[in-house]
Amino acid sequence: MSSRVLRINDDDYEIMGLIDKGTFGRVFKVIKVGEYDDKFYAIKVVKTRENGLIDYLKSEIATLTYLSRVLDKTAPFVRIYDSQILKKGNECIVLMVTEYLSGQNLYDFIEKHAMTSQLILTMFRQILLAVNMLHQMNIAHRDLKLENIMVVDDCSYHCPTPVYRVVLIDFGMSCNRNLDYFLSFPDRSEVSRRCTEITKIGTKVTMDPVLGVKTDLTFSEVKATDLWSLGVILFRMVYGEYLNESSGGYINYIRNRVTKFSPILESLFQSIEKRESASEIIDRFKQFLGLSQEYDQKEWRDGSLLEIRLSGTTIGDDSRDMKSGMLPLIPLRPRLTGGGKCLLS
Ligand SMILES: Nc1ncnc2c1ncn2[C@@H]1O[C@H](COP(=O)(O)OP(=O)(O)O)[C@@H](O)[C@H]1O
Ligand SMILES: [Mg+2]
Repeated sequence: MSSRVLRINDDDYEIMGLIDKGTFGRVFKVIKVGEYDDKFYAIKVVKTRENGLIDYLKSEIATLTYLSRVLDKTAPFVRIYDSQILKKGNECIVLMVTEYLSGQNLYDFIEKHAMTSQLILTMFRQILLAVNMLHQMNIAHRDLKLENIMVVDDCSYHCPTPVYRVVLIDFGMSCNRNLDYFLSFPDRSEVSRRCTEITKIGTKVTMDPVLGVKTDLTFSEVKATDLWSLGVILFRMVYGEYLNESSGGYINYIRNRVTKFSPILESLFQSIEKRESASEIIDRFKQFLGLSQEYDQKEWRDGSLLEIRLSGTTIGDDSRDMKSGMLPLIPLRPRLTGGGKCLLS
C-alpha cells in the first residue's frame, strides 16, 4: 500500500492533499479507490497515546454516526461514512471518513470576506438553528468556535453567485444523551465529569467561564454553555476580535459600541441562569434585531434556514426544514474493526 493511500476497513482512499490541521487531527481530502464518480471525501486522522482523548474521539464517531443515521443529508452536520481505530505500539490512530465539505471554516471565511450585517445575520441564524436542532435532539456540541463551523459552497465555479450553507463539524467534545453510554449515567454526575474535563482541553476563548468554576452542571446548563460560545462567535463576526472576559466585561463592551446585534449579544452573554435557550432566542430573533416588515416573510418562520449569498440582497428559503420533536433512541457503538488490538471496548 502506497503512503498516499489510507486503508480504512476494506476500502482504500487516495490522498489528494491536506485540507487543514485541527486541535488534535489532520484532515485530508481523498478519493475512494475504485469509485469512478470523482467524489471527494474527507478523512480525519488523529494519532494519540492518551486514553482520555480516545474516549472523546469514540464519542465523536458515535454522535456523528447517530446524526448521520437519524437525519438526512440536508442536515447542517457533517456526515460520517466509516471509521476505524487502530493500535500501533502505544499509539492509537483514529480515522474518520466523512463527506468532503467544499469551502472553508468560518475562521478563514471571516479573514477573507467583508462581514456585512446582512451576511452576519443570515449566517448566524443558520448557526443558531443548527445548534437549536442539536439541543432539541439532546446533544450539546460543547466546542463551538469559528474553526468548527464550515461555510460550505456547494456551487461549482460557474455559479453566478455563490450560495453558502453552514455545517457544524468536530463533535469530539459533544455530549449526546441519546447514546447508551450516557443513558447509563445519572444526569449530573456524568455530565459534570465531562464538563470538568473540558475545562482542561476545551477552547478557552470560546468557553463559558462558568465551566472553570462550576462542576455540577445540569444538561440544560451544558446546553446553555453552547450559547455562550455562540455569543463569542457572533461577537467576533460583529467586532472582528475576541475578548477574554466575564459576562459583565462583554456586556460593558457591547453597550459601549452599540450595533443592531447588541440585544442578541447581550442575551447570549447573560449569566448561565438568566441565559435564554437557543429556541427562545430564535423566537425573539426578529425582535432582537429590530427587523422590519420587509423581513417579515415566510422565510423567517421557525425551522427554515436561509440562503447565504455574498451579494447580500437575496434571502430565500432553501427548504432545509429542521427536524424537531422526538427522535428514536438508538444505542450506538462506533465501529471498531481491523487490528482488533485497540484498547477500546
Ligand atoms: N469534512 C470536512 N471537509 C472539509 N474540511 C474539513 C472537514 N472536516 C474538517 N475540516 C477542516 O479541518 C479542520 C480540523 O477539523 P476538526 O474536525 O475540527 O479537527 P480537530 O478535532 O483536530 O479540531 C477544520 O477546522 C476544517 O478547516
Ligand atoms: Mg476542531
